[in-house]
Amino acid sequence: MTSSPDSLEERAPALLTTCGGIDFRNPVLTASGTFGYGQEFDALLSLRGLGGLVTKGISPQPRFGNPPPRICETAAGMLNSIGLENVGVEAFAREKLPFLRTCGTRVLVNFFGTTFDEYVDCGARLAALDGVDGLEMNVSCPNIKAGGIEFGRDPLVLGGLVKACRAVVRKPLWVKLTPNTSDIVALARACADNGADAVSIINTITGMAIDVRTRRPKIATVFGGLSGPAIKPVALRMVYQVHRAKIPIPICGIGGIQDGTDAIEFLLAGASCVQVGTQSFVDPASAERIIREIEECCRAQGVTDVRELIGALAVGQ
Ligand SMILES: Cc1cc2nc3c(=O)[nH]c(=O)nc-3n(C[C@H](O)[C@H](O)[C@H](O)COP(=O)(O)O)c2cc1C
Repeated sequence: MTSSPDSLEERAPALLTTCGGIDFRNPVLTASGTFGYGQEFDALLSLRGLGGLVTKGISPQPRFGNPPPRICETAAGMLNSIGLENVGVEAFAREKLPFLRTCGTRVLVNFFGTTFDEYVDCGARLAALDGVDGLEMNVSCPNIKAGGIEFGRDPLVLGGLVKACRAVVRKPLWVKLTPNTSDIVALARACADNGADAVSIINTITGMAIDVRTRRPKIATVFGGLSGPAIKPVALRMVYQVHRAKIPIPICGIGGIQDGTDAIEFLLAGASCVQVGTQSFVDPASAERIIREIEECCRAQGVTDVRELIGALAVGQ
């Protein structure tokens, strides 16, 4: 039997997925801080082909970030201590958003503050902007002394912050969790209980590296955030723990995704979509390739709808 283009079309797996109140044409987004403000990657891959993109973290005021050196390579990953350098809400709205409105993919804006009030103010201002499909609240950055880590590590404090932001953000609100915790489920539950629409799991894991010749840390701030393939097993474990605990909001899985198989592992562990981070530094078009690989893998396994994979991990007998 010869196959017509139509029947080929019929066999193409459905890649559409929904996470945290947003429909995505496929489950692959690019991760905050590894994809600039989107426009930087426009010539390097088809932004329209992506499920979505997440911007660099935005704060109420511009930030210059930490002193150099702020990145270094490690075995199977990298450390960064960028310190949340960004243009601030006003310049984001004026200079970055006009392009994002036309880029043809879903746009989530990652944001943070250094005080409780800054978070609320920043969330409210960003959510009010046209062209922003949803917000991802970064409560997990290990690089700044005020804000960040304090908010994201204690479920009570985190819950209060989510509640306050929820009250002013009338768009999908995701919370990006820190892996630097002994109880990821408690953090996810605090988000769900206080009105978050989804949790993104995980941000970077705190680490350090030393230059033996100079006897100095390789990162000026001594500690940095570890990302890349080295963290994938930890990220998968945390996604699975939150899924298994039946926290009633969806999960976006992040950490060390290099190819379609890695992405599918996250879906099986319970993620509804994924983000590609450090791999975009290795190959700026990797997110596009990963989408193709997911599609190929679905075809090979006779999966007609990618959503069949979500949480389909078989554990035990
Ligand atoms: C250079 C760099 C900058 C980052 N900036 C942010 C940020 O602004 N906000 C945020 O929530 N996460 C930030 N992240 C974390 C990533 O979005 C992602 O959660 C993490 O790198 C793990 O995914 P990966 O292993 O695929 O890179 C950054 C990561 C890197 C490597």
